[in-house]
Amino acid sequence: MSENKKLKVGVIGCGRISVMHLVSVVSLEETELVACCDIDRAKAEAAAKEYGGRVYTSYEEMLEREELDAVHICLPHYLHSKVAIAAFEKGIHVLTEKPMDIDLESAELAVKRAKECGVQFGVIFQCRYNNSAKLVKDAVTSGRLGKVISARSTLTWSRPDNYYSDSDWKGTWDKEGGGVVIDQAIHSFDLVRWVVDGEVESISCSMANRGHEAVAVEDSAEGLITFTNGVKYGFYCMNNYGCDEPIEIRLYCENGKAVFTYDDAYITYNDGTKEEAHPDMVHLNYGGGKDYWGLHHIRQIRQFYDALLGREPLEITGEEALKTHRMIMEVYNIGKKTMNK
Ligand SMILES: NC(=O)c1ccc[n+]([C@@H]2O[C@H](COP(=O)([O-])OP(=O)(O)OC[C@H]3O[C@@H](n4cnc5c(N)ncnc54)[C@H](O)[C@@H]3O)[C@@H](O)[C@H]2O)c1
Repeated sequence: MSENKKLKVGVIGCGRISVMHLVSVVSLEETELVACCDIDRAKAEAAAKEYGGRVYTSYEEMLEREELDAVHICLPHYLHSKVAIAAFEKGIHVLTEKPMDIDLESAELAVKRAKECGVQFGVIFQCRYNNSAKLVKDAVTSGRLGKVISARSTLTWSRPDNYYSDSDWKGTWDKEGGGVVIDQAIHSFDLVRWVVDGEVESISCSMANRGHEAVAVEDSAEGLITFTNGVKYGFYCMNNYGCDEPIEIRLYCENGKAVFTYDDAYITYNDGTKEEAHPDMVHLNYGGGKDYWGLHHIRQIRQFYDALLGREPLEITGEEALKTHRMIMEVYNIGKKTMNK
């Protein structure tokens, strides 16, 4: 792909998260936003008015008419693989929001089709680009922290009933694929799996809906995941809390301990030395974006385009994201059997 021409980009789904993608695409030198698509015309028009591009209400029409290099998928979960595959088959690269889909088969098929079509397939896990996560990952992979013995993650957030009732897909098994695990805690699961770099050996977990009358999906989950490299990972997540507390991940390692919250990390080695990471002070203005979405979509989006331009390999590929997706799907296979409704 030529370094000189701007890559033509379309965004499919102009709801809440799309601003992170739209701002990033218009901010990067290498990309040009040429199309905004949403079945809700008003949303596509609002996005195009603010950031540019032609308006579409059908992604099929957009893929047909525009000469796109890449699309960003910001749709309800159950549409991710289907729309990604439609783009792959037109030779278009895809960057999709998490999760890959609501089941394993669709996600695996998307990875297979991307490969067959010879296009790049990236999956958003922007928290890996936080300074905190990068420091802890480096301290583990360099060996400074020694072997990881155990990990734990906690997420206590607030998703009141109207978060679900305001949406036609959130809180449904058939469109969202679950609740707090697949939507909110997925980032903690991904960070731990990525940092400890293990294959899942076994999962023991339970799930419940403890505080949301209006929906059937889980709003609480806890469990233990054991990796083949011996790491034991305990998790707890629930969205019945009164506010969004920072997620917290702790690692207990041979040479010390690490704790990382949202964008801060603190490592204390057994010899008393310390390392810390904190957020950068310069950020893009994401308009209506939420703090808890993280500040590093643009870092991952830039990495995706660097890969498309052949400057470096794509970091969070479909294959890579599939490792986390498999783990999450297994948490559901086991956890759903324990659901109280
Ligand atoms: N990375 C993160 O931290 C993060 C944060 C929030 C949301 N997300 C993800 O972003 C995705 C979207 O979430 P959201 O909160 O923006 O949801 P949303 O409901 O606000 O937006 C989804 C949009 O898709 C549109 N849509 C639905 N079906 C369509 C179709 N067939 N064609 C075109 N448009 C269609 C809807 O009209 C809506 O505007 C989800 O995968 C979600 O998990 C990621």
